[in-house]
Amino acid sequence: LSAHLTLDPAFRVAPVHRRTFGTFVEHLGRCVYTGIYEPGHPTADDDGFRRDVLELTRELGVTTARYPGGNFVSGYRWEDGVGPRDKRPRRLDLAWHSTETNQFGLDEFVAWARKAGVEPMMAVNLGTRGIPEALDLLEYCNIESGTHLSDLRVAGGAKEPHGVRMWCLGNEMDGPWQIGHKTAREYGRLAAETARAMRMIDPGLELVACGSSGSSMPTFGAWEATVLEETYDVVDFISCHAYYEEHDGDLASFLASASDMDHFIESVVATADSVGARLKSKKKIDISFDEWNVWYLSRFNGAEPPRDWPVAPPLLEDHYHLADAVTLGGLLISLLRHSDRVTSACLAQLVNVIAPIMTEPGGRAWKQTTFHPFAQASRHAAGEVLRLEFDSPVHETERFGQVTALDAVATLDEAGATTLFAVNRSTDRPLTLTADVRALGPVRLAEATVLSGPDPYARNTADAPDTVAPRANTDVRLADGTLEITLPAVSWNVIRLN
Ligand code: AHR
Repeated sequence: LSAHLTLDPAFRVAPVHRRTFGTFVEHLGRCVYTGIYEPGHPTADDDGFRRDVLELTRELGVTTARYPGGNFVSGYRWEDGVGPRDKRPRRLDLAWHSTETNQFGLDEFVAWARKAGVEPMMAVNLGTRGIPEALDLLEYCNIESGTHLSDLRVAGGAKEPHGVRMWCLGNEMDGPWQIGHKTAREYGRLAAETARAMRMIDPGLELVACGSSGSSMPTFGAWEATVLEETYDVVDFISCHAYYEEHDGDLASFLASASDMDHFIESVVATADSVGARLKSKKKIDISFDEWNVWYLSRFNGAEPPRDWPVAPPLLEDHYHLADAVTLGGLLISLLRHSDRVTSACLAQLVNVIAPIMTEPGGRAWKQTTFHPFAQASRHAAGEVLRLEFDSPVHETERFGQVTALDAVATLDEAGATTLFAVNRSTDRPLTLTADVRALGPVRLAEATVLSGPDPYARNTADAPDTVAPRANTDVRLADGTLEITLPAVSWNVIRLN
């Protein structure tokens, strides 16, 4: 197979938004407990945060972290998680059929986020709760002192306000599984009134209305239109959530999941803009793709529901392989390509729960295969996103029709370094890519890495954590303004020129 593309700094899409590389920390399974927080662990710091996980989080390069859910937030009382630990109640978590001990809460999360160097992004409960509780939470978080709730925060040891800028108005309220699930009109009204009230405290907040929990939802499209009719003037973002998995051994479709994500994003942008046009508004609503990942959801849905209420049980601990990582790389390409409207995104989730980082309780922390494309993209995507036009062979897929074997995006940073991110979605054939880079001026090849291998289903484990990891691609040449590189079948590639 062979493909061709042109890299030209004149074709700019938008800046690379650092918030594209956000993540998600939910009170779910072992994400918090024995994930980021485990007092007594050999690496635990004074706050009980695992230092090994903090280090991996920094290496992963995540920039924001959404908290505390997810489905969890729709039954959560944030007050349960603040104040003296011995007074915090144990509660039933209906979303995940678990017991929430509340030993980790809001202040601990913000302290952890500061140590990890990530921006906290908060979700309010619009399932079982409403405007007053959202206002209380905002007052507790962002008011310096001198009010009941801000003084409570200060008394608890958090002297400085948490200064949370970005807030999700509920979670997946279109889903019948959501506690307090609503119709689009009901939710839109509540979200609008909550947003208006929150802006009375701080007009500068960035607010996210819930979009659909997936593009296959029966209300997809109509939901976004109705919610935005109600909220257009008072929110900045509409959310998208998407999870992909390989169905029935159909690897070709799975590797092409990004073509579905492209379609999803473009549909939501069109819907938002059509509402804006009807409202005669000049404002544009951005997308917060605040849950995305590979998730073997069909296995989770097919599993026996729990009978008891365990504390931090192992849930959704998907064990990723090479093809999962390549697919995830493709999803990152899709997000970056749409940087003109996708200005925030969260890989769901960070630790143990459908996560790039895994931990053993009391033991080791290690990187899943999916860690690598995310870390490389976060490290090297900088400056401006470049639009690429390319010629590539196409093949037919069962779920997404005709797709190109090549998918790619590039970024150009302020110092003039260009990074090309590319996947070969062919299941069995290498792809020779030639790129015309003359428009970049005199450049040299700084690095070319590839994530690939003979077995697309190879996995990392705690004992063999580097089985699937990027290695140098030596099958590459740069001469006379032409880059030529071989991309193995089922591979994620990063090529840096400067
Ligand atoms: O990330 C796991 C779950 O997926 C979240 O709790 C929910 O919002 C979504 O359905």
